[in-house]
Amino acid sequence: MLSKHAPLFDPIKIGKHEIKNRVALAPTHVGTGSERGGRVTDQTLCYYFARSRGGVGLVIVEVTGITGRHAYTPGLGLGAASDKSIPGLSDLARVIHWGGARAILQLTLGQGVQAFYHHEKRPLVGPSSIPAVMPDEDIPKNIRALSAIVPQTPTPLAIEDIRRLIAESVNAAKRAVAAGFEGIELHGAHGYLLGQFTSPYFNQRSDAYGGSQENRHRLPMEIVREIKNTLGKKVVVGYRLSAREWIPGGTELAHSIPLAVNLQEAGADYVSVSQGCYGSINRIFPKGEGAITADAAQIRKNVSIPVICANFQDPDTAAKAIEEGSIDLVALSRPLLADASWVNKVRAGEPEIINKCIRCYQCVSMAIVNHQPVRCPVNPALGFERFDPDSLPRPSKTDPD
Ligand SMILES: Cc1cc2nc3c(=O)[nH]c(=O)nc-3n(C[C@H](O)[C@H](O)[C@H](O)COP(=O)(O)O)c2cc1C
Ligand code: SF4
Repeated sequence: MLSKHAPLFDPIKIGKHEIKNRVALAPTHVGTGSERGGRVTDQTLCYYFARSRGGVGLVIVEVTGITGRHAYTPGLGLGAASDKSIPGLSDLARVIHWGGARAILQLTLGQGVQAFYHHEKRPLVGPSSIPAVMPDEDIPKNIRALSAIVPQTPTPLAIEDIRRLIAESVNAAKRAVAAGFEGIELHGAHGYLLGQFTSPYFNQRSDAYGGSQENRHRLPMEIVREIKNTLGKKVVVGYRLSAREWIPGGTELAHSIPLAVNLQEAGADYVSVSQGCYGSINRIFPKGEGAITADAAQIRKNVSIPVICANFQDPDTAAKAIEEGSIDLVALSRPLLADASWVNKVRAGEPEIINKCIRCYQCVSMAIVNHQPVRCPVNPALGFERFDPDSLPRPSKTDPD
């Protein structure tokens, strides 16, 4: 490898688990689940095996629903709402380990007020009766359809519903661990239901789960504590947050720093920093790179657990962010859609042969707007891993266990 990229290959511990390098697959919904129940399919296994074998130290599996009571993921998403999901998730954890990476499952409480497509069938809920904020037309044309959506008013969740969500989160985490994952990540970013609870814009409650910052942080802290108390210290519990929502009245860095501190106190093993919500969708999927690093660095100054940060593409930029101590791990989403072997190519000292993401937003459009399996024009193999002999899961000596 080139010496300037060496910082990417230092091992690091998350909780009690050693991660072999500083690169994670960012949670990325790719639409490989079954039509009903969000079960793991052969394509799910091959897609994730290819990314693990491509050299990342940590695979954070995409957003996975803890409940089927309200909309939880875009179409063809994964689910962990029932014990029936355990066999498929077990295969998934196994093939990720075979590829050489540690495995974390991202869990979501649901899309909350940002569930536009499912709410006719399932109730549209939120912390309060505040509808989603939609982006204006100044967004890439592939996802402009989002700006035409007129958001509906959600029903605020009752305290019993919130208690049920906490219990369902613990049950889903139990299933992930029973399946062999090292742990879970709670999806508190991007303006979905859990993030709506911590947001001063979306959360206008006046009970124990809203009204003050302390109360807005109560739900995520209770979930982290409950999972740790139930499953023990060895199980990794990570948390993904939006450092800023980039909407008027929404979450600012001054809110997300104390959230990270409180999550650490509740027992979280890492914080993964992202940004934005649907009202600022350009921020979730930045056109450039390095757009979140400065905010993540501010958060890192206030916690002692590892900080993961998204939005890198050039290995120079990624290695520099680690070397300078801004962040602990980089999380790659689109770069690993475009090239599953990004890490292996950097490790081999051949960064120039990386297949680069061109920021065309086709994957975002397919995942979020059209609810189709994700495809990528610069990587025609994406979505077809089950037909690629190199991507067929097989046991390997690199299994971290
Ligand atoms: C197709 C697609 C699906 C995504 N799905 C998820 C998801 O399931 N959970 C999540 O937290 N973020 C999701 N993201 C956001 C990414 O994890 C990441 O934060 C964002 O794309 C910026 O990183 P990048 O510049 O490496 O792409 C998704 C991104 C894309 C492109
Ligand atoms: S090239 Fe386009 S489809 Fe492929 S990862 Fe990048 S934005 Fe997504």
